[in-house]
Amino acid sequence: MTIKCIINHKPCEFDTDPTKRVIDLLREDFGLTGVKEGCGEGECGACSILLNGKLANSCLLAALQLQGGEILTLEGFRETDQFKILEESFAETGAVQCGFCTPGFIMASEALLMENPSPTKEEIRDALSGNLCRCTGYESIIKGVLLAAEKGEGLW
Ligand code: FES
Ligand code: FES
Repeated sequence: MTIKCIINHKPCEFDTDPTKRVIDLLREDFGLTGVKEGCGEGECGACSILLNGKLANSCLLAALQLQGGEILTLEGFRETDQFKILEESFAETGAVQCGFCTPGFIMASEALLMENPSPTKEEIRDALSGNLCRCTGYESIIKGVLLAAEKGEGLW
C-alpha cells in the first residue's frame, strides 16, 4: 500500500505493509530511533509520537493510520525552541537519568503544553500518566515540565 504523509515536516510517500506497526516503520524504515520500544502494548509511552498534533503510542498504530497525516517524532521536535526549553528544564530538575523514557516524556509534555501552556502539577501528572519511568520517581519530571512552562511563557 502506498502511504502519503508528512514525517518531521517532510512530505513522504512510500510503499509498506498497511498493518506494519508505526513504531517499526519509523525505527526501521526511517531510522527514527528516538522512538523507543518499551512494553509494545500501549502501557509505557516510550514510543510516543505526535500524530496530527495529538499524543499517540506508535506501538499501537498501523501504517495505514498515517495516511494523509502529520507525524512528529523527537527528531523533528529537536529543531524547535520548545524542545530546547524542555531539554534544559528536564536537565535542571534531574528529570533524566537513564534517558530511555525521556523522548516519550518530552513528546507527551509538548502535547500537553500545546493545549495548556500553564498546567498545574495535577494536570501535568494526568497528562503524563501514560508514560512510565523506572528511574526518577516522577516528581523531577513534573518539576521539569513546570519549569519549562515558566521559562517558555509565550512560546506555547
Ligand atoms: Fe508503546 Fe510502551 S512501547 S506504549
Ligand atoms: Fe530511566 Fe526514565 S530516566 S526510565
